[in-house]
Amino acid sequence: MRILSGIQPSGTLHLGNYFGMMQPAIALQEKGEAFYFIADYHSMTSLFNAEQRRKNTLDVALDFLACGLDPQKSVFFRQSDVPEVCELAWILSTLTPMSMLEKAHSFKDKSAKGIPINHGLFAYPVLMAADILIYDSNVVPVGQDQKQHVEMTRDIAIKFNEAYGETFIIPEPQIKGETAKVPGLDGEKMSKSYGNTLEIFGEEKSLRKKVMGIKMDSRTPEETKPDADQNLAIQLLKLVAPAATAADFENRLRAGGLGYGDLKKQLFASYWEHFAEARKKRAELAANLDYVNGVLADGANKARTLAQKVLKRARKASGLE
Ligand code: ADP
Ligand code: TRP
Repeated sequence: MRILSGIQPSGTLHLGNYFGMMQPAIALQEKGEAFYFIADYHSMTSLFNAEQRRKNTLDVALDFLACGLDPQKSVFFRQSDVPEVCELAWILSTLTPMSMLEKAHSFKDKSAKGIPINHGLFAYPVLMAADILIYDSNVVPVGQDQKQHVEMTRDIAIKFNEAYGETFIIPEPQIKGETAKVPGLDGEKMSKSYGNTLEIFGEEKSLRKKVMGIKMDSRTPEETKPDADQNLAIQLLKLVAPAATAADFENRLRAGGLGYGDLKKQLFASYWEHFAEARKKRAELAANLDYVNGVLADGANKARTLAQKVLKRARKASGLE
């Protein structure tokens, strides 16, 4: 089974990225042949600063390796180190109905917010389809918001296979149920575009300030809170604390007697502890960038060899060769 996923280097990674995508992807490296990449081509649709892209790409590499991506088990690479994916995207674009792209939430959401839409952003699902199909991927672990893109990939692959004969494997999305949508500090979906994120790695003081600044309602500590499971700090605590700790705090909040300040202090402590080991590993990696660049170069070699093989199959099937 080949597992594939990608993440854009368009900002600093947060708990939503971690629980929605990275952690499931890292767990899956035990279950099959995993291919994970940093989607730098995709980041070009919304980030127009070259230096920032370079920095973010390195940060994503460090974050992923620190969080447990094992280059002995997974092929880890930069999307643009395999330029073949752009040729496949062109081929697939000729089988992609405009009406399908017009339905994509990704560009519709941005358009609704008044963000100007470039062609790359509109055509983004086609490049994503190429990413997935060029590695003969079976399973694509992503957050809920990417499910539609994987469904489009399936539709495009089916169209290609119908037009030119069986060429592509039809991939399955894999959405991790209980953490499909990690809430942000304002209760909306955590997203860098909403400015409501809690970063995986960062400076202790400012992260503590963010956690202690989470808005709560005005009920007194003594009041019972039958809706304790809806409390944002409890929801986040369930992700980062041992189950028994989270259950204890939820029960105390429900019963009355636990103040929001103490709850948030616990949330910060558990969150800081949850990533303690990864933080240490990240510092070690940051001091050894030759190793990190070597991992990406090695991954690119392996990925490119496979991509060239699959692209050739598609070129032959469609009469380019
Ligand atoms: P952002 O919304 O911050 O821009 P991306 O769109 O770059 O994040 O998402 C990268 C990956 O992380 C995707 O697989 C996405 O589904 C996942 N992801 C992002 N935010 C969340 C969230 N709040 N909950 C669960 N998964 C998320
Ligand atoms: N579009 C994805 C995101 O924004 C990143 C991505 C690009 C991806 N290509 C992919 C994810 C292929 C899975 C498979 O999160």
